[in-house]
Amino acid sequence: MLPRRPLAWPAWLLRGAPGAAGSWGRPVGPLARRGCCSAPGIPEVPLTRERYPVRRLPFSTVSEQDLAAFERIVPGGVITDPEALQAPNVDWLRTLRGCSKVLLRPRTSEEVSHILRHCHERNLAVNPQGGNTGMVGGSVPVFDEIILSTARMNRVLSFHSVSGILVCQAGCVLEELSRYVEERDFIMPLDLGAKGSCHIGGNVATNAGGLRFLRYGSLHGTVLGLEVVLANGTVLDCLTSLRKDNTGYDLKQLFIGSEGTLGIITAVSILCPPKPRAVNVAFLDAVDPEGKDHRGAEPGWLRVQVRPLPPRGAALRHRD
Ligand SMILES: *[C@@H]1O[C@H](CO)[C@@H](O)[C@H](O)[C@H]1NC(C)=O
Repeated sequence: MLPRRPLAWPAWLLRGAPGAAGSWGRPVGPLARRGCCSAPGIPEVPLTRERYPVRRLPFSTVSEQDLAAFERIVPGGVITDPEALQAPNVDWLRTLRGCSKVLLRPRTSEEVSHILRHCHERNLAVNPQGGNTGMVGGSVPVFDEIILSTARMNRVLSFHSVSGILVCQAGCVLEELSRYVEERDFIMPLDLGAKGSCHIGGNVATNAGGLRFLRYGSLHGTVLGLEVVLANGTVLDCLTSLRKDNTGYDLKQLFIGSEGTLGIITAVSILCPPKPRAVNVAFLDAVDPEGKDHRGAEPGWLRVQVRPLPPRGAALRHRD
């Protein structure tokens, strides 16, 4: 466990080029490709285990036999190249760094199940990882945990063109799912800044909110089913795509927001709302009741004026 200490924003993120922060604090340019620790001018991220008083629990370390077993389970999906392991060891804010020496890239739930069964028997620690876009360091190892990436689990399993129910693997990138359902006149019930690289499984595991939360509700409502692999390799199949399923315990809810502590989400069934016919954008401007400039207004007296823009307003301006 990491101590609950606020993470300092790294100085380079707030500084100018190289790797200047975009308008939302997101790195632009070369840093958009995460984990480029050796890029010139960018300091190496300190190891989490050196920065914080954390203690490694008595897990085993990965042996040659383990690597051979993984290679049998996921042929071609065992990464041990230190160069390739740099990025997945560092979090998006570049404040935490693990020292994992193995990354596994399964394609199916069965492969995830075999990996976890092996790790369970061998007492090896595992760190699931989606798009590694999290802001709280939950997606990177603290020590030498095996990184289990969902990057190759990116298939859409089914989509129902009337109900809008999408069933897909956990490693589907949110933006690609958005494009997929929008071509079919639906939209994803969530949208967020990291959509170009975050995985739907990670969204569910972290109970992501995002821009559409107020309109379409939380993932506790829009996720209809999940397939999860438990720590010992048991596959829990709650992947229903029935909208009105009132049977028994609603186990899937436990895994929404569980951050990988209870199992690895391998597939998601999610309800997509129909695509809105129009999208209107309005300027919101805060003025006081006398119409004075917002800066002179007393807090509490502000009201919001909504001014639709002709012909099709196209900006949201936020003044204080
Ligand atoms: C795996 O773990 C689950 C949950 O703890 C348990 O119910 C199940 O019996 C375990 N399976 C095996 C094969 O040990």
